[in-house]
Amino acid sequence: MKAEDIKCAASVCAGVIGYSYALKFAMVGLEVWAQNRTEESSARAKGRVEESLSSLVKNGVYTEDEAKEVAGRIHYTTSIAEAVKEAQFIQESSAEHYDVKWQIVDEIEAAAAPDAIIASSTSGLLVTEIAKNAKHPERFCGGHPYNPPHLIPLVEITRGEKTSEETVECAKAFYQKLGMEPVVLKKEALGFICNRLQMALYREVANLVMSGVCTVEDADKAVTFGPGIRWGIMGPSLVFELGGGAGGVSGLMNHLHDSTTLWLQDMADWKEFPAEWADIAQKGVDEELAHRPAEVGNTPETLAEWRDKMLIEELKLHHKL
Ligand SMILES: NC(=O)c1ccc[n+]([C@@H]2O[C@H](COP(=O)([O-])OP(=O)(O)OC[C@H]3O[C@@H](n4cnc5c(N)ncnc54)[C@H](O)[C@@H]3O)[C@@H](O)[C@H]2O)c1
Repeated sequence: MKAEDIKCAASVCAGVIGYSYALKFAMVGLEVWAQNRTEESSARAKGRVEESLSSLVKNGVYTEDEAKEVAGRIHYTTSIAEAVKEAQFIQESSAEHYDVKWQIVDEIEAAAAPDAIIASSTSGLLVTEIAKNAKHPERFCGGHPYNPPHLIPLVEITRGEKTSEETVECAKAFYQKLGMEPVVLKKEALGFICNRLQMALYREVANLVMSGVCTVEDADKAVTFGPGIRWGIMGPSLVFELGGGAGGVSGLMNHLHDSTTLWLQDMADWKEFPAEWADIAQKGVDEELAHRPAEVGNTPETLAEWRDKMLIEELKLHHKL
């Protein structure tokens, strides 16, 4: 299968991630099938697509007519067979359990063309294990998005032991065609790249808060208006390349070596989050939300709306929308 041959895509299990992938596929002109188990969850997926499109209209990405055209390319069904039978690319976004994924992969393979690519949205299960009963494991890979995939460009592609090079190349080219930024992992790794990076940072947030250095709100503020604002433009190594001046990143690392050694020795190296952190984090976030002006979102709903508006502006800067 070649990416240019993909004209029809299926999003199987169109929940939080699956509806957004269906929308992303439709945004680049593909015919799309979005599958859910019940009429009720199908209606929820359709509602989410409409809400996201209306936010894209509100933020100047689409006119009303263009949004209608995008919406018109998505067909909803409760049948996996109907969703996948004409699709050349199938994104699986079912619940994060092996037994659910095995059952869904079985149902997909029973109706899909033998060369259709199947990509799993799994956040951390092993592709090799998900595809272990597959008839054609060579066309199966991981396509891990960040929420919501119709706005966040990163997708982490993982291969299982039997995934073919052709599948990886096709998935990579396909996601690029969607305007996404695929990164192919050289080997399977729990949590892939970015969840590991996020958790490494978040472990230190928990450590700083629990040892009384700062509040949850201040840690959020420090990231948002400090390194985070740069990370939206370039990654940490490029940031340090500039930070090192003429010496570049190697100069910076050498110059700061003694100091970073002291910091690293003082930082958390926990192998699990302390049990009390979840409650401390929630209390901190509740306080932070209570301090936020309404215009930047101060409830989970308005915060998500503001995030999408800001993401759209950021994506425009990156020429991704
Ligand atoms: N939510 C995120 O931020 C996020 C980010 C990246 C990847 N993912 C991954 O995407 C996948 C879907 O996550 P989500 O957040 O969209 O979850 P979700 O609960 O919103 O959707 C899961 C879908 O799976 C279906 N499902 C659940 N149990 C099933 C079963 N027994 N048989 C058949 N279908 C079943 C549901 O009907 C629903 O359509 C997971 O693998 C998750 O790890 C999630």
